[in-house]
Amino acid sequence: MDTQLIRTVNKLQDAFSTVGVHNPVDLPQIAVIGSQSSGKSSVLENIVGRDFLPRGTGIVTRRPLILQLINRSSTHKPSAAESAKDGEKEEESPKGNDYENPDEWGEFLHLPGQKFYNFDKIREEIVKDTELKTGKNLGISPQPINLRIFSPNVLTLTLIDLPGLTKVPVGDQPKDIEKQIRDMLLKYITKPNAIILAVTAANQDLANSDGLKIAREVDPEGLRTIGVLTKVDLMDQGTDVIDILAGRVIPLRLGYVPVVNRGQRDIESKKAITKALDSERDFFENHSSYRSKAQYCGTPFLARKLNMILMHHIRNTLPEIKAKIQSALSKYQQELLQLGDPLGDGTSNQANLVLNIITEFCTEFRTIIDGNSNDL
Ligand code: GDP
Ligand code: NA
Ligand code: MG
Repeated sequence: MDTQLIRTVNKLQDAFSTVGVHNPVDLPQIAVIGSQSSGKSSVLENIVGRDFLPRGTGIVTRRPLILQLINRSSTHKPSAAESAKDGEKEEESPKGNDYENPDEWGEFLHLPGQKFYNFDKIREEIVKDTELKTGKNLGISPQPINLRIFSPNVLTLTLIDLPGLTKVPVGDQPKDIEKQIRDMLLKYITKPNAIILAVTAANQDLANSDGLKIAREVDPEGLRTIGVLTKVDLMDQGTDVIDILAGRVIPLRLGYVPVVNRGQRDIESKKAITKALDSERDFFENHSSYRSKAQYCGTPFLARKLNMILMHHIRNTLPEIKAKIQSALSKYQQELLQLGDPLGDGTSNQANLVLNIITEFCTEFRTIIDGNSNDL
């Protein structure tokens, strides 16, 4: 049921995006924030388990990327021999991006019906569409790119990758670029429904974390902020993040998760994500500070934690979401009535489309809720 509920919520998000309205019913989303190069894109790629985000030094993410991960069980039935091998995943050969899996693909909202099985092509499309809306002069645009990834290897989640906080304009970037980025981030994290994923490199002082600072402005008590500590492998010998994890530095109710992503050299040598996740697990299991709590460290734990948080959040806000959908439904019904003939000249087409999708959504929504009222 969990996956179905998040999927239905995703559908509604898309319906509104199609007509240029962003998240009008304030659906729960996880917004990823932090300084430039803190490791935000690396964390997202590790959660997805594939390379697909544009990267490089400097400001790469220049438009919000609304990333809907949809868990979809494999349609490919493994042979007996393949199932027998399941327990020894480490033995698999590393999967580079030339690896295409018929069960794993991406779809952009702005390219309906087109399935991307090649994840390099997903990255190219993100770059292309970013430049289309922002130009090549490193400007930013608040207009989001919507990407869905279907895979048996992801947990159903909606994440938003946002431009990194930066202080100094580069190239012919506008002088107020810092303010522009802050305003954009604030737009996404101010809503009480947003879950803030604040990414901070562990080899810098937590008190100076740009991500945590801006999160505190909108969530002063740390009730809906989750901390991610990257680059734990780059910390000085003899230092660790145990005090932070224990809530003794800047406490957050949802806590912190330490992770180890690929370093720049790993990326240059094209180290596969599957290998990187193995190294991450080895790092925490063999480190004297983390060994006893390795199950609460690393990317797979982070992904499970986010999935749980999102589910609880959606459940807690269901009554509110329901009320907002009802009012949107009557608003569009009203609009349609005023526009008259729904098969007419096209003015009513958008309203009609939205109405259809919302009506369908309400029906699905009710089915899910009625069928699982004891879960809620
Ligand atoms: P973003 O700008 O916040 O999206 O950061 P990126 O994910 O692009 O990472 C910036 C740089 O830091 C890249 O060179 C990454 O390889 C490196 N990096 C990110 N996370 C880690 C980590 O956990 N360990 C190490 N050693 N390098 C990391
Ligand atoms: Na970067
Ligand atoms: Mg990035």
